[in-house]
Amino acid sequence: MPDFVAVLKKDALPQGRGKCVEVNGKRIAVFHTGAGYLAIDDGCTHADASLAEGGLVDDCTVECPWHGAQFDLKTGAAKTLPAVEPVKPYKVRVTGDNIEVEV
Ligand code: FES
Repeated sequence: MPDFVAVLKKDALPQGRGKCVEVNGKRIAVFHTGAGYLAIDDGCTHADASLAEGGLVDDCTVECPWHGAQFDLKTGAAKTLPAVEPVKPYKVRVTGDNIEVEV
C-alpha cells in the first residue's frame, strides 16, 4: 500500500534546485520549483543520467544534464528527444519541515 515517506527537510532544497533521494532502493528526484515540490524517477529513460542534476527549464520541466531531453515534472512525460519513454511521477506533500514522497 502506498505511503508517504519523509525524504528531505525543506531547508535542504532551495527553490530552483533538485536532489536525488533513495527510497526502498529507488532513486527519486525531488525538485523545488515555483510551483512547489515535485518528484519523478531520477533515472532518465534515455541513458539513466540523474535528472536531479538537470536544470529547471520552467516550473514544470527539467532538462536532462547529459543529452538535453526534457521531462514534465507533474506527469513524467518525455517532452523532447532523445528521451521517448516517460518517467514515473510521485505525489509530494509537506508535513511540518519535512518533504514527503508517496511510494
Ligand atoms: S541520458 Fe538523459 S537525454 Fe540522454
